Amino acid sequence: MRLIPINSLQPGMKLGKKIYNEEGIVLLSENAELTEAIIRRLRSHGLNYVYVADPRTDDIVPVDMIEESTRRRALMEIRTNFRKMTEPAVKGLVYPYLGKTFSGLVEEIMDDLSSREDAMIMMMNINSMDQYLYRHSLNVCIYTILLGQVHGYSKSELKLLGLGALLHDIGKTKLPLKLLTKPDKLTDEEYEQIKLHPEIGFKMLKDEPGIPLISAHCAYQHHERLNGSGYPRGIKGEEISEFARWIAITDSYDAMTTHRVYRSAMLPHQALEVLYTGCDLLYEKSKLEVFRDRVAIYPLGMMVKLSTGEKGIIAKIHGIFPQRPVVRVLTDPYGEDLKTPYDLDLSEQLSIVITEVDGMNQIG
Ligand SMILES: [Fe+2]
Repeated sequence: MRLIPINSLQPGMKLGKKIYNEEGIVLLSENAELTEAIIRRLRSHGLNYVYVADPRTDDIVPVDMIEESTRRRALMEIRTNFRKMTEPAVKGLVYPYLGKTFSGLVEEIMDDLSSREDAMIMMMNINSMDQYLYRHSLNVCIYTILLGQVHGYSKSELKLLGLGALLHDIGKTKLPLKLLTKPDKLTDEEYEQIKLHPEIGFKMLKDEPGIPLISAHCAYQHHERLNGSGYPRGIKGEEISEFARWIAITDSYDAMTTHRVYRSAMLPHQALEVLYTGCDLLYEKSKLEVFRDRVAIYPLGMMVKLSTGEKGIIAKIHGIFPQRPVVRVLTDPYGEDLKTPYDLDLSEQLSIVITEVDGMNQIG
């Protein structure tokens, strides 16, 4: 299948992967034919890429970082519990025990990831309409556990890190939804209000049974930056917990690669570049390097242009050499469709480079 930007979708194309609605129910099944109305609806829900079926690339099947069943269950748990947290404190209302609810989930994600030795950070939020906060919390959790595994944390450390990552933005459940989904630029006053979420989150988590203090500190410190330019306290370097320094990277990356009401999503290589502009100023170099080596900068199924002038689809990403994927070449340098598409392994053809990703110039 191929990964197509929402603006390039045409009526008549067939879906390559099912699409779930905000409640986790299948909205469109595989092979569903797209119509003008469906495309409009997908766009209005903030989807920016969709997998479509294509006979020349049928054998290219994206593999998620975690099992589909784990993802669906995780999103359902996050949605149900986060929604309960948004309700104002009412006497007699029982709030969920976050520690108990989410510990099992983190373990399940850890199991999924540990069974895939060469798991990469893949672009997510494709074919998904879940609300930003829920998707983001899950993505940051998955990315952070993966990096923690590569770093060599023990299982018990990974659980604390995963829990902190999953709940890092929980404070946002106490902010007005209108503020979180505002399509325009925030006023100074509104931005100050958003900046309260780390402290609110910390207060929610610090006395919560089953949430260790080190995980609560992830909520408190994930917007702190190495040079002290972060918030809420402007602490620096090693004053920021090591866990929060990992989450600073995965949180920023996921935010940049996600479509928001006020701006389009960046592609992985662009987001990586932005992170590197903050190398050793905002984010720790050694952690950025672990991240860089694990991020699939070219999403499977995406159209790329090669220095030979040919165009093709990312067909396979090598775990040890993610910058040099296999490309299924579909058109010749003159833009004519090839009668017989062929696979070109860039890890072997080192003189050929990717010059454009999805119509955008590749930088660096
Ligand atoms: Fe945050």
